[in-house]
Amino acid sequence: VKQILAINGSASENSSNLQLLEVISATFSDTFQIAVYDGLWCLPLFNPNKLREITPVSITQLKNQVDDADAIVISTPEYLHNVPAVLKNALEWMTESGELADKPVLPITFTPHEPRGKFAMTSLIQSLKASKATIVAELPLYQNRVRNENREIVLDEEYRFLLGEALKLL
Ligand SMILES: Cc1cc2nc3c(=O)[nH]c(=O)nc-3n(C[C@H](O)[C@H](O)[C@H](O)COP(=O)(O)O)c2cc1C
Repeated sequence: VKQILAINGSASENSSNLQLLEVISATFSDTFQIAVYDGLWCLPLFNPNKLREITPVSITQLKNQVDDADAIVISTPEYLHNVPAVLKNALEWMTESGELADKPVLPITFTPHEPRGKFAMTSLIQSLKASKATIVAELPLYQNRVRNENREIVLDEEYRFLLGEALKLL
């Protein structure tokens, strides 16, 4: 069974991106083992000088989890027409050490409604390319398509199909 690390790109505590990743993990548990990572918000801020110091434990843990995974899913909201700083920060920490190089990655933007998330996707793709990751697809998803009246996320048939096909590419 493929081991996938699913990273929540949001800085929020009650993140809808986290909810989405948990639903994805449960929905496809027969075919993939998807561990959800929700720790970006507490990582220290990257600074190149810190590479000459002892690596913070939280950073080592993230790097090890990325290293150990067969593939990565990143689901992110858009902040200021870009990715949240917490996500960019994590990517900066992994630039020199290269954990994402040749790693299959599925980037997902999960934003309130279409066409939001376009800028975040463009930016994320550029950073993943710079990290030499293998980008398998681009998946823009929208909250208004999957939220029910209790604000729970329920995948419809199309989203389930799209996600299933994209995960198979990892
Ligand atoms: C600082 C900030 C900036 C935002 N800028 C954008 C934006 O540029 N485009 C967008 O679609 N949504 C923007 N939003 C709204 C988020 O996309 C929305 O709150 C989303 O649900 C956050 O995902 P989460 O629930 O996983 O944290 C912004 C939110 C914050 C906090």
